[in-house]
This record gives sequence, C-alpha cells and structure tokens, in this order.
Amino acid sequence: MTDLVKTEIADGVLSIRMNRPDKKNALTGEMYAAMADAIVGANTDNAARVIFLAGTDDCFSAGNDLADFLAGSMDDTDRPSLRFIRDIATAEKPIVAAVAGVAVGIGTTMLLHCDLVYAGESARLHFPFINLAIIPEAASTYLLPRRVGHQRAAELCMLGEPFDAHVGKDFGLVNDVYSDDELIEKAYAKACTLAQKAPAALRATKALLKGDPAPVLARVDQEVEIISPMIGSAEAREVMSAFMEKREPDFTKMAS
Ligand code: COA
Repeated sequence: MTDLVKTEIADGVLSIRMNRPDKKNALTGEMYAAMADAIVGANTDNAARVIFLAGTDDCFSAGNDLADFLAGSMDDTDRPSLRFIRDIATAEKPIVAAVAGVAVGIGTTMLLHCDLVYAGESARLHFPFINLAIIPEAASTYLLPRRVGHQRAAELCMLGEPFDAHVGKDFGLVNDVYSDDELIEKAYAKACTLAQKAPAALRATKALLKGDPAPVLARVDQEVEIISPMIGSAEAREVMSAFMEKREPDFTKMAS
C-alpha cells in the first residue's frame, strides 16, 4: 500500500492517480507496483469497466525516479516497472488518460498503451531517453513508429525534445486538448461515457483494436535487454547523477 498512488472506483470507472507532487510524480517501485496491481485487478472486477489514469491536477509524471535508476538493480526481470509495463500493455479494460504538465519518459510511453488520451494546454510530453544515454522503453520503439511513422518517431526519440499537446494531437498521440481547468473533468466524463457502453462489446472492441500483444511484449523484453546494461553505463550514470545534483553532465573524462 502506498499513498503515492490513489485509486478509487466510482461510476464504473477505476481512477488511478499518481500522487507524488513534490517529485513531479516520478515513479518509484512501490508506485509501479500499486498501478500494476490496480490495472490487473480491473481485469476481473465488474465494478471497474474503464480505467481513468491521471497524475495530480498540474502534473502527469516526470517518469522513472532517477534516484531509483542510480540505486536499483536492472537484473530483476520481475521488477515492478516491468510488471507495470506488461500489465498496462495487456489491460483488458479501456484506459482513458488525462495529461497535465510534464509527461516524461514512461510518463509519455505509457500513453501508447492507453485508448483515449486527453491533454491540457500545459502538457509537455517527452521521449528524453537519448539525452539520458539510454533507449526508449515500454515497447515505444515498436508502437511509436507504427502510430506516427518512422520520421516522426525518429524526430521524437533521436532529437529527444519535449513537445506540446497540440503537436501530440497532430501526431495522433492525443485525442483532444482541453484547458487545464477543464482537463480532468472532461477526460473523466469520457471515461464515464465508456463505462455506460455494453461491457463485453467494449472489451472485445479494445482487444481487437489492440491486436496480438505478443510482438509488443517481445519488444518490451528486447528493449530491457538493451537498456539494462545502458542504465549502468558511465555515461548514463553521469547524466542521472548530474540531474540529481543539479549540475550539467561532464563527459570530458570519458572515452569517445
Ligand atoms: N526522478 C527523481 N526526481 C525527480 C524526477 C525524476 N525523474 N523528476 C523530477 N524530480 C524531482 C526533482 O529532483 C525535484 O526535487 P527537489 O525539489 O527535491 O530538488 C522535484 O522533482 C521537482 O523537479 P524540478 O526539476 O525542480 O521541476 P521542473 O518543473 O523544473 O522540471 C522536469 C520538471 C520533469 C522537466 C524535470 O524535473 C526533469 O527533467 N526531470 C527528469 C525527467 C527524466 O529524465 N525522467 C526519467 C525518464 S527515463
């Protein structure tokens, strides 16, 4: 149990809200575990017909906790972050996401597994991995080019620059953009609308639209094999340490 993720079921909607505002909802192991458990629980819970995924009112998530990356072992193939990725990739109930403020790293890649994504004017999405000397995860290297085309995926993942909600909408990653004041209410209303639909038909529609999860899960594993040693590399550790120590990275003593 953690207070850093709040869950609640009402109106046929399971709300999962990341709640670590002092760290921009950066995700720790216990937060991933809580979110994974909630998503898996919804698969068999008749009261949860739709999942509503959001952060705090002004922030979605700054991605994986970088202190965890620096401290953690990447050897555990059952670690909570991976469990969360596999569980959101295979979620059986529709997921509606509301994105305000920053959505970095897994904060953006998890959206590729959602069904409806709404963003506030303040939303800043970001595939930052190249800047951290690592590769994208959560099967985003598989899903993103299929969603937006190779050139756009390359732009987002190789240049590694943040983009706003309107670009996200142009690229087909965001369904609609709302004012920040209205975002949560309007996105939640969409979730409530879905919750009123015939449940078996809704679930089957999602399954068919998503298609075979096998290639997605295979890509998750392939990315993990590549990213695990990279997270321990001197370059990545220098970038992450520099962020935590609020300084610029220093690569001057590293071999080229
Ligand atoms: N891991 C751990 N802590 C994080 C974090 C992360 N991913 N993102 C933000 N934080 C912490 C900051 O260290 C800071 O903590 P402090 O107040 O104790 O110093 C706090 O959250 C607020 O962050 P700050 O950087 O001051 O907010 P900002 O609005 O200026 O910038 C971001 C927001 C998201 C752009 C910036 O925090 C950032 O770039 N974070 C790292 C994102 C990232 O690389 N994620 C990993 C992807 S794999």
